[in-house]
Amino acid sequence: MTAPIGIIGGTALAELAGVTQQDEPAWPETAYGAPSGPLVRGRFAGREVCFVMRHGRDHRISPHAINYRANIRALADAGCRQVIAIAAVGGISETMTPGRIVIPHQVVDYSWGRAHTFYDDPEGGELDHIDFTDPYTPALRQALIDAATALDFEPADAAVHGVTQGPRLETAAEIDRMERDGCDIVGMTGMPEAALAREAGLSYACAAVVVNKAAGRTGGIAIHAEIKATLTRGMIDIERLLESVVPTI
Ligand code: HPA
Repeated sequence: MTAPIGIIGGTALAELAGVTQQDEPAWPETAYGAPSGPLVRGRFAGREVCFVMRHGRDHRISPHAINYRANIRALADAGCRQVIAIAAVGGISETMTPGRIVIPHQVVDYSWGRAHTFYDDPEGGELDHIDFTDPYTPALRQALIDAATALDFEPADAAVHGVTQGPRLETAAEIDRMERDGCDIVGMTGMPEAALAREAGLSYACAAVVVNKAAGRTGGIAIHAEIKATLTRGMIDIERLLESVVPTI
């Protein structure tokens, strides 16, 4: 039996429709506590998948309060070797326009105070300093780019993903600073998730959808209805992308 593919849903993918032959959703207790929501395990696009909702079943868990360690541990314990992380992000660079699918290649982490490593238990395994030069697994990233291109999504095939603490949105000056730092997109949940996946030995890549222009880039306050409409369209695109990429990896 091949390993299930882990999928972490976010604001841009609240549930994974089209999962068949589902097991009863399980809420496994890990050494780091319970994941954000039940693990939905079943068949999707001809493969075994394991899906977890990052913000919980009813989207109540704030980015800083997510138990990233339990989510990653639960997927690893379920036998996943690869994880696709879905994210809704704000666009900083001019080309990161609402609706665009983005496969980021780099991260700048501005989050703080999150349980960000598995290596903090002196009784646990020997300390390792993971290599994080490329935070996303290149082969999995390429599979996402290829699938999105085949669907004519014209994905952004590289982007620096700045991760802020949230849950508030950023100030215009904070986004200016992030732009000077080289960030193209901004989200709140990309870290420590990516680093924990690396520590757990999992392949990990992110498929993001831009849902708004970042603070100070909108010519006004982002209109909620617009964001919602973009999000709804984005979810459809993300599901299509998953259906297309899952059989190839
Ligand atoms: N900033 C941070 N996180 C986000 C944004 C944003 O503008 N949009 C979606 N997630």
